[in-house]
Amino acid sequence: MTLALLSGSFVQIAYMVSALLFILGIKRLSGVKTARSGNTLAAIGMALAFGATMLDVGAVDWTVLAGGVLLGTLIGVVLAVRVHMTSMPELVALFNGLGGAASAFVALAEMNKVAGEGETTRIADAGAPFAIALSLSILIGAVTLSGSMIAFGKLSGKIWKSRFGPIGSQPLNALLALAAIALCYWAGFAVTGGAGIETGFYVLAAVALLLGIGLVVPIGGADMPVVISLLNSYSGLAACATGFVLENNLLIIAGSLVGASGLILTRIMCKAMDRSLTNVLFATFGEQATGGGGAADEYTNVKSAGPQETAMLLEAATSVIICPGYGMAVAQAQHKVRELATLLEARGCSVRYAIHPVAGRMPGHMNVLLAEADVPYEQLFELDNINGDFQTTDVAIVIGANDVCNPAAIEDPTSAIAGMPVLKVWEAQTVFVVKRSLSPGYAGIKNPLFERDNAMMCFGDAKKFLEELIVEVKDL
Ligand code: TAP
Repeated sequence: MTLALLSGSFVQIAYMVSALLFILGIKRLSGVKTARSGNTLAAIGMALAFGATMLDVGAVDWTVLAGGVLLGTLIGVVLAVRVHMTSMPELVALFNGLGGAASAFVALAEMNKVAGEGETTRIADAGAPFAIALSLSILIGAVTLSGSMIAFGKLSGKIWKSRFGPIGSQPLNALLALAAIALCYWAGFAVTGGAGIETGFYVLAAVALLLGIGLVVPIGGADMPVVISLLNSYSGLAACATGFVLENNLLIIAGSLVGASGLILTRIMCKAMDRSLTNVLFATFGEQATGGGGAADEYTNVKSAGPQETAMLLEAATSVIICPGYGMAVAQAQHKVRELATLLEARGCSVRYAIHPVAGRMPGHMNVLLAEADVPYEQLFELDNINGDFQTTDVAIVIGANDVCNPAAIEDPTSAIAGMPVLKVWEAQTVFVVKRSLSPGYAGIKNPLFERDNAMMCFGDAKKFLEELIVEVKDL
């Protein structure tokens, strides 16, 4: 057997092992206890895949590659250390965009390589599958890049729809989509190679970039998590198409995994917000929802309780459900939450946590924070598994959550969040709501929970309020 054949077999085996490591990694990522090892497995798979690809590609400039790896590692480490948990969605948006860009650039480079070798007809010779893969890679990659950049800008509050004029209007989007489909068709079926084919692909990239902007601009802030998850799926699909362009099996497998998992997450999030994907993509709910309602003067009959009063009311409680939200993340109050729960448990009170699927600013946000504070996993309950228990619970403590426990979602059909499943905290005998003011949450709407007869507002920063409450509970 020749050396080339041996190295070819090694590369294919390495790809297979990498694919297995990716699959195992994703499986382990779905559980809090196994997530860390899942991440490590996937990282090992990626390192193996990188090494095998280098071997496969053969003559490469190792200094350029080493420089790229070093720079990428450095940027990754700095981001991982510096970016706050609450800014993770922005970071994920950036990563998605870069993933899409990588796919589009690799596809364009492959096209240029083919053209540079004087084989412009190869695109046609290779048949429709190659040209279709090339078109899809460029189309989806470019849409993902520009769409993700807009999503990043919107999440960080730097981009507003009004700045884009007609871009994002449905007729213009429809026109761009038709142009993109026509260009893909032209490249895949109509063209016979020769002059013009490269220009065609560049035009496709430009149209796709505009389409990505147009698709995300009209979508409101409240829907951005769903959009980011969808763009994540797109970045996988773009990578998968690039895998076909390069005839690289691992890229096809890895891209499909990202594409499929992104789609599953998108579906879960749509369900959690009781929205259809079409509604998210083509209605302007989010823009309206983030439109500035819920001012403090809209409230009457608001009662508040200080740490001492709250501790006294907790003294007799035998069952407590804690409902964390974005404010707990901002205040970094998860360790104090755990400390309070331990104190209550020591007094014979049962303590559980109700986790809403979109509480916080990213999927699993609350699970990650509570795991960090060593809250036993068995005490965390998903919305469907705990919502029926509030009626028989003495006290619900809402910590920095707002939209996810807004009764308007159930009771007011005109509400911007009507239909979204929410935690029915108001059904508990007493509800404490720990937050700094009566300000609205992410959806920007009034929360009638604050006016309920059994609700007490505990005004203050979540961490600070809990510190004071813990002192009082210790004194009981
Ligand atoms: P929100 O509805 O955004 O409410 C968070 C509340 O935390 C605010 O009303 C704020 O009130 C309070 N807060 C902020 N800093 C605080 C601090 N230091 N101490 C105490 N309270 C503090 O949060 P939620 O209930 O978790 O709902 C999540 C919302 O975000 C949903 O609308 C969801 O659709 C959206 N979203 C979710 C995701 C994902 S995937 N989870 C991603 C993006 C957006 P004060 O200012 O009065 O303190």
